[in-house]
Amino acid sequence: MTNRRAALPLLAAATACALLLTACGQNSEGGSREKSGDEARTIGIAMPTKSSERWIADGRNMTTSLKKAGFRTTLQYGEDDPDQQVSQIENMITQGVDALVIAAINGEALSNVLQQAADADIPVISYDRLILGSDHVDYYASFDNEKVGELQAGYIVDKLELKDRPDEGPFNIELFAGSNDDNNTKYFFNGAMKVLKPYIDDKRLVVRSGQTRLNQVTTLRWDGGTAQKRMDDLLTSTYSSARVDAVLSPYDGISIGILSALKSDDYGSSAKPLPVVTGQDAEAASVKSIIAGEQTQTVYKDTRALAQVASDMVGAVLDGKEPETNDTTTYDNGKKVVPAHLLPPVSVDKSNYRSVLVDSGYLKAEDLR
Ligand code: GAL
Repeated sequence: MTNRRAALPLLAAATACALLLTACGQNSEGGSREKSGDEARTIGIAMPTKSSERWIADGRNMTTSLKKAGFRTTLQYGEDDPDQQVSQIENMITQGVDALVIAAINGEALSNVLQQAADADIPVISYDRLILGSDHVDYYASFDNEKVGELQAGYIVDKLELKDRPDEGPFNIELFAGSNDDNNTKYFFNGAMKVLKPYIDDKRLVVRSGQTRLNQVTTLRWDGGTAQKRMDDLLTSTYSSARVDAVLSPYDGISIGILSALKSDDYGSSAKPLPVVTGQDAEAASVKSIIAGEQTQTVYKDTRALAQVASDMVGAVLDGKEPETNDTTTYDNGKKVVPAHLLPPVSVDKSNYRSVLVDSGYLKAEDLR
């Protein structure tokens, strides 16, 4: 498949180089990935939303990595509207992009448009979120998503000292999950539940709402306002005379919503301390909240490294080579097991945010003031 895609453009580029004896490797944007003459190949990047800092960084990082590799880029954000994302991808196909990098809004909504991509011989890299129900997904660049959930739940277990102080508790916990149309959601949740379930089973952790199944705790489009409303409802219905000790939150935007609900219910004083609240993405607002002692933890995923992996995949596929992958069994999208390159997530709290986030240049100290 990859050879088929690469053969013609490569031949054309090589022939052009040989005939013209030019310094192939340069184009107007400084790239080196011509399809013929000096025309660089263009990569279409489809991102889900600008409402979250992380995806803005992903778009920027993808553009930078691809440009460094000599490609032109076109970047679109679907504003969390699956139909809009489909039409953006359709437009990119019509414009003749040479490859697509897609972070899906709804993982199941892209089958038709990916068929169009396949008909036009355009390879597809699934970025961070696996695209489901389509044969036409060539590679998947992401993080170890189950590990993300394990880190969040492991943090709760450590903070409540469930292992070290077996006589303490029981502690009350509530569970939140991400969007039900994002394939990552179940990996985060299952990873977390693997860690939490033994404690829930032996009643050291109690989910007073009784809402422990994934379909009871999802948050459509990862929306902080939706999570805030659910937390408000839980506090009213279940915690009028009890205190919540921990909240499993899968994502910083959701954590901010949960914390707003808690603060409106007077959590945050010494009489009623805030619960342990996890998160994901190390967004500046949440890291500030961690520094201020509100959110407790987040999971850092270096989106610069992810963009590099995805960009390398594009380069390899278009050069007719096999991209580097490190997981060829986990990510079955319903039609095929998509070969994946997974990066490691890192747990971050007040004790290590500076060394992990600031010293690595991921966030600037002034962004956290
Ligand atoms: C997931 C992603 C998370 C978080 C979430 C909400 O797909 O893996 O890191 O960004 O979307 O945007």
